[in-house]
Amino acid sequence: MAIEWRASLSIGVEEIDNQHKQLLSHFNQLLKSCEAGKGREELQKLLGFLDDYVIKHFTDEESIQRLRNYPEYEGHKKEHESFVARLKVLKEEISSEGVALHHVMETNNLLLKWLLQHISTVDVRLGTFLKTLAA
Ligand SMILES: [Fe+2]
Repeated sequence: MAIEWRASLSIGVEEIDNQHKQLLSHFNQLLKSCEAGKGREELQKLLGFLDDYVIKHFTDEESIQRLRNYPEYEGHKKEHESFVARLKVLKEEISSEGVALHHVMETNNLLLKWLLQHISTVDVRLGTFLKTLAA
């Protein structure tokens, strides 16, 4: 089931919100491709996209947090690091074994968890903090 962007996900920084929307749309594309039996091809594209995306997106998000002296910065950064580490393992597995269906499912789960537990929770909390500063 596709996940739609909603206003409650906004952290109030346009560039970050756009990056989150981009990730959401890639996730939905993966789901669509899976339904069409093309999950493995799409996974290759998605991982290529994530290579540049995670570096840029996490760097941007973390610099905002440092700039604003966000008290949860360290813990937030650790979550980013663990996401990057999981991606790395996944990519290593794929480069040695080739893309298998279980990789598609693992990526699906990884992204779903990320959307629900990080973007919808940890990033939204950052947004709430930023909004208090702006108020
Ligand atoms: Fe984040």
